[in-house]
Amino acid sequence: MAEGARRPLIMGNWKMNLGPADAAALAGALLDSLPAASAADVAVAPPFISIGPVGRRLAGSEAIILGAQNMHWEERGACTGEIAPPMLVEAGVRMVILGHSERRTLFGENDDMVGRKVAAACRHGLVPVLCVGELESERDAGSTLEVVGRQVRAGLQAGAPPSCDGLVLAYEPVWAIGTGRTPTLPEIQDVHSFIRNEVRNIAGKEIAAKVRILYGGSMNPGNSVEILALPDVDGGLVGGAALGSASFLAIVAAAAD
Ligand code: 13P
Repeated sequence: MAEGARRPLIMGNWKMNLGPADAAALAGALLDSLPAASAADVAVAPPFISIGPVGRRLAGSEAIILGAQNMHWEERGACTGEIAPPMLVEAGVRMVILGHSERRTLFGENDDMVGRKVAAACRHGLVPVLCVGELESERDAGSTLEVVGRQVRAGLQAGAPPSCDGLVLAYEPVWAIGTGRTPTLPEIQDVHSFIRNEVRNIAGKEIAAKVRILYGGSMNPGNSVEILALPDVDGGLVGGAALGSASFLAIVAAAAD
């Protein structure tokens, strides 16, 4: 678990699930069941169209941080289908997932685009959740650290830290997402400690000690206790298990332990 000043963060990535009504209902269920003072931060990232209703349901509560799953790096313009950072800010969003592997593999996002997005989030006062992670073929080829290192450096290249308060990274091995498979605990710890070291090289000791590094990929109530206990794991980015209040809250409880 997070040492020192690092407060654990459990973030639900709802992906392309839950329209406005269902998303608001899940947000309400979470809000009703979360303890008043939790030892972990909790965030949810609904689909864009559900952000408004979820934000209204969460209004007035500090218990759940409103997140988004993506954004463009420009402030406005002719970019059909995209959402700009000030729009997220206006909707009450405080954290934004950037460079998720599904964006990279299904929608062609490259390191350069992800770096621009991270820098834009920082400029607009949004906390970026920069996702990195290797494909199964890359792990098999022994190039996990090379790939993850490149993604971290590219993601932070545009000068995210130290101007970026609260920067979050997420290690999500692509082959562990939605598959029920996870790396071993030592493998997770190795990559997390490597990521913290990369951040140290880029941004210095103080930011590296503060940055929260989440694990994502088939995290569930059963495996979360052990994963969250690793020294460089500061929380979780949860997909499937975040779509039910009971399983998500069990992971939050594991983080707050
Ligand atoms: P799963 O928890 O469904 O494996 O998804 C992880 C993820 O991609 C979170 O961003």
